[in-house]
Amino acid sequence: MKHVTTLEELTTALAELPRPIGFVPTMGFLHEGHISLARRASEECASVVASIYANPTQFAPDEDLETYPRDIPRDKAMLEEAGVDVVWIPTTEVMYPAGYQSWVTVEDVTKPLEGARRPTHFKGVSTIVAKLFNAVRPDKAYFGQKDAQQAVVIKRMTQDLSYPIEIVVCPIVREPDGLAMSSRNTYLNAEQHQAALSLSQGLKLAQAAFEDGERDANALRQIVIDRVNAEELTDLQYVSCAHPDTLEELEGDVNRCLISMAVFVGETRLIDNVLLE
Ligand code: PAJ
Repeated sequence: MKHVTTLEELTTALAELPRPIGFVPTMGFLHEGHISLARRASEECASVVASIYANPTQFAPDEDLETYPRDIPRDKAMLEEAGVDVVWIPTTEVMYPAGYQSWVTVEDVTKPLEGARRPTHFKGVSTIVAKLFNAVRPDKAYFGQKDAQQAVVIKRMTQDLSYPIEIVVCPIVREPDGLAMSSRNTYLNAEQHQAALSLSQGLKLAQAAFEDGERDANALRQIVIDRVNAEELTDLQYVSCAHPDTLEELEGDVNRCLISMAVFVGETRLIDNVLLE
């Protein structure tokens, strides 16, 4: 596996890679969720490029950019093992040169849910992903359903800006106890980890109710709210039952919906979701 930093090094490395090229963008401190994307890319593509970059513009000033966990040697070993050919680890000088002032904004689908609570987040995400796409020029790019709204935003941007890239969305990888894998899980102590299980458990209860015929959006939301609020250490931010493509909040009977949520456990903000159809 080649490790490149500058745009010039990346371009040279790309010239040697057979197509199709699969691309896996990450912020590092990798776990089985990220690695599932790299494995899928290596099954489906002749070459795989991954990037590691904790993008400062998608973190608000009060968020965890400074403390975001890092372990590049371990990340590189995991990516190599998953079949990645080139890992690009740019510096901020490469991604945001002095005087930087250009942005990609996606409109409606960035407004609700995560966008409502993190108003500058998706402007940072769409801009960095567009820049990564421009540099890597992949045939396919792999994203996780874990960040459901991000996947919707990237699909929208790819279509709107005419990128010739197929967006592949891969299922959420969970710990054996159900907790959705996240680099931020490392912030949780044992008690908090236990309380955090209420996210996936609430979603499972809603899914079971849906399978038993419950169709009312409010009732589905309430099942999740009740399970999370049964824990003392959780502080629920939102539970949504929304249209999976437009992300508009639904009322009354639903046939297809994305149930998604954000919950603080201590200082750690966790998200999870399930698609019901
Ligand atoms: P990061 O949080 O590192 O996640 C990189 C990719 O891994 C994303 O597509 C995310 O959805 C996916 N992922 C994370 N946890 C997962 C899990 N438990 N199961 C399946 N997939 C999972 O998302 C970002 O980085 C950034 O916003 C990025 C797209 C790199 C732009 O900066």
